[in-house]
Amino acid sequence: MEKMNEITGQFVQKLQKSIENGSFVKLTLSKSGGKNKDFRNVYGRLIELRGEEVMSFTLRYSTRDETRNHPIPEALTMVALWLGTDFLNGDLFTLEEDLSIQFSKKRKPRLFSRPASQEEKPPKVHNRQKQYLIEVADNPYLHAMGISSASGNILPAGQAKFRQINKYIEIIDSLLQQHPLPTAPQIVDMGSGKGYLTFALYDHLSGLGLKPAITGIELRQKLVDFCNGLAKEAGYTGLSFLAEDIHNFHPKRIDMLIALHACDIATDIAIAKGIQSGAEIIIVAPCCHKQIRKQMACQTDMQAILRHGILEERQAELITDGIRSLLMEAHGYQTRVFEFISTEHTPKNLMIVGTKGKKKEEALEQVEAIKKDYGIEYHYLEKLLE
Ligand SMILES: C[S@@+](CC[C@H](N)C(=O)[O-])C[C@H]1O[C@@H](n2cnc3c(N)ncnc32)[C@H](O)[C@@H]1O
Repeated sequence: MEKMNEITGQFVQKLQKSIENGSFVKLTLSKSGGKNKDFRNVYGRLIELRGEEVMSFTLRYSTRDETRNHPIPEALTMVALWLGTDFLNGDLFTLEEDLSIQFSKKRKPRLFSRPASQEEKPPKVHNRQKQYLIEVADNPYLHAMGISSASGNILPAGQAKFRQINKYIEIIDSLLQQHPLPTAPQIVDMGSGKGYLTFALYDHLSGLGLKPAITGIELRQKLVDFCNGLAKEAGYTGLSFLAEDIHNFHPKRIDMLIALHACDIATDIAIAKGIQSGAEIIIVAPCCHKQIRKQMACQTDMQAILRHGILEERQAELITDGIRSLLMEAHGYQTRVFEFISTEHTPKNLMIVGTKGKKKEEALEQVEAIKKDYGIEYHYLEKLLE
């Protein structure tokens, strides 16, 4: 290895000392300086691996993240090698001080020490812990939404939401591997609420190297103001929110339409907007199902079962979502219906995903037959698609 610059040596020594005396919190290397501009930053934290303390690095490239675990001496050598070559910035956070090393264009380093900004150490995680697609560090929206602490740890009250967001991103990630979006996709999230999922999606797609333009549509002005403020703070220039009824929103082009837990017929309005604007992908997780239930008057032997209110309610949900899926198929989408996340997190856990494909000719006849059996006059989505 080339002889280490004295200032870099001091930085690495402080890193080593903080690990030895237990004050280390986290390390980030940023500002690409090497030939590989794709290599965006490195995030280091301590974990326990087979009973040994090791440094876990997350190497963030523009289209993927890579995790590598190293024994401490090896990790110190890697940091020394990266600094001044691949990265021109290093930030070490300990319980005693925040230490930064910055390299000039001529690769001359300078050290800056500031009072410690971190008051607590992250809990030592075991490597058996599930690897999530969402990186907690460097994601300010998670903190602003009360999911993580300022030091980047998931708060106990935020655990369930964090798992739900991750599950959602995992689903979208695997969907996009089969149905890639254009490099600058137009995405609309209808009924975006507090924006948890909208922010996570924007962050994830940007991390994949896409330049998404995502619009969250939400009736409640307060939530829209909150989300717009946060998007600005986070520097998410392609993410914006509109206070509007989705009924009155007339987009020119949508590549991917999302509506998660939009109440009752709001899900139908969203599906119709997606179909009418020719969206390649439609993702909905329906919420309450009132419209069909009110009309249901079963005409078959099933009536003997549906006299129980709870069973009729479940059947109404099944028919509502089943007909949604058939109508999407009639309009040229292939659909999949599956459980989005376990019911322990939310009872509203069904997801319908439609991807553009061939029209299913017999779907409309199937809808008619089901409506007849259950005495249903119309499904709201049908009216919207007439
Ligand atoms: C249950 S929240 C879901 C929020 C978010 N999508 C999620 O899953 O975390 C449903 C949101 O849809 C909004 N909403 C309902 N009907 C709407 C409409 N017609 N137009 C715009 N927003 C609507 C509500 O205000 C609410 O914030």
